[in-house]
Amino acid sequence: MTERYSQITGWGKYAPPQVLTNADLEKMVDTSDEWIVTRTGIRERHIVGPGETNATMSVAAARQALDVAGLAPKDVDLIVVATSSPDHFLPSVASQVQYQLGAECPAFAITAGCTGFVYALATAHQFIATGAYQRVLVIGSEVISPFVNWQDRDTCVLFGDGAGAVVLEASVQPAGVLSFVLGSDGSGGEHLIIRGGGSVYPPSHEMIEDKAMYIEMNGREVFKFATRILGEAALQAVERAGLTLDDVDLLIPHQANLRIIELAARHLGLPMQKVVVNLDRYGNTSAASIPIALVEALEEGRIRDGMNICMVAFGGGLTWAAAVVRWGQPAQPVEWPLVWRFAPAGQKLSMAAARVRLHARQLADVASYHAGSLLLPLYTFAGLRKPPRNK
Ligand code: UT7
Repeated sequence: MTERYSQITGWGKYAPPQVLTNADLEKMVDTSDEWIVTRTGIRERHIVGPGETNATMSVAAARQALDVAGLAPKDVDLIVVATSSPDHFLPSVASQVQYQLGAECPAFAITAGCTGFVYALATAHQFIATGAYQRVLVIGSEVISPFVNWQDRDTCVLFGDGAGAVVLEASVQPAGVLSFVLGSDGSGGEHLIIRGGGSVYPPSHEMIEDKAMYIEMNGREVFKFATRILGEAALQAVERAGLTLDDVDLLIPHQANLRIIELAARHLGLPMQKVVVNLDRYGNTSAASIPIALVEALEEGRIRDGMNICMVAFGGGLTWAAAVVRWGQPAQPVEWPLVWRFAPAGQKLSMAAARVRLHARQLADVASYHAGSLLLPLYTFAGLRKPPRNK
């Protein structure tokens, strides 16, 4: 079988218009623009306004991505949304995105903290590499602001809301996703946690008084972990792609803290000109940070065909992930393997057949229920007519 690659053919982003600056935060908590800028590099972040949700932001980014790819929502075979701040526990935000977009395909969400987008990209790549799907919409979207304790200066200066999306398409060209590395170490779970709201600590007055619905973070531990893991994960992904660090044209790291990014770049021996940084205007948008940074780099003309791009992330879990993508649009789209080509039509047929079978069963149930009701008086009558048993 021809080797199948997956290339990014569309991209889009959405940031809520409402901006919260460091000067605004100075009025809310005991902090200063000087502290935030020197310790994190962040100057402002976007916060959702009325009517904006994780799903609406995802859809806005996805529509742009589909436009760039020249596709319609019905052309998408799968939607994967990476998020840790869904609109609801149920239904999945991915299904709401599928519905609001007008797509007709499966959809699911992935939770891997700020690392989620690279996990989602790797997952989508697998569906394409196996031949199961041709076009996958991969979204990273976060509405973190409701989970931030706006009285806690340790965390509230860091986060922002936003969404980014890419279209991943099957291709025979040896480009697109060349490699990926995924990792998890749950022993560090408590370093970045929302303790309440789940089944371990369900919503209650006590939980709210305890402020357990907000993000809690051991900043120093996460910082140490991040500075170690970013370099390691990026190097592994580069080596898996059969490349060296000299071949990396652009590094797109998770946008959490400028100091973390600079240390990672230094460990990797990459000059900052090769690193995308936009956290000054977005803050940490968790799973949305890499796709937003990717889109900005494209808009600024920093990405050209043939470039090797390394995306690397870390986050709650604790998790980490890296992927190497060789940029380039597919010159010719890959043929969909015969076994899978008829899969959507086959799926529609089998769904129709299942629907017919279900209706038939429902009809039979209704008929037998009514037949039973009709026969009941007969049974009763027959019962009454039975001669009384001898005592
Ligand atoms: O996507 C993953 C999400 N998380 C991260 O990426 C976080 C990784 N960690 C970090 O980015 C950094 O650890 C922080 C930015 C969170 C903190 O920077 P730091 O240089 O590690 O500061 P620190 O926690 O060591 O605190 C230094 C001082 C403390 O005061 P004392 O104890 O030295 O008197 C803090 O109370 O800075 C104080 N501080 C603040 N001061 C003004 C903490 N937050 C603030 C603030 N404004 N917002």
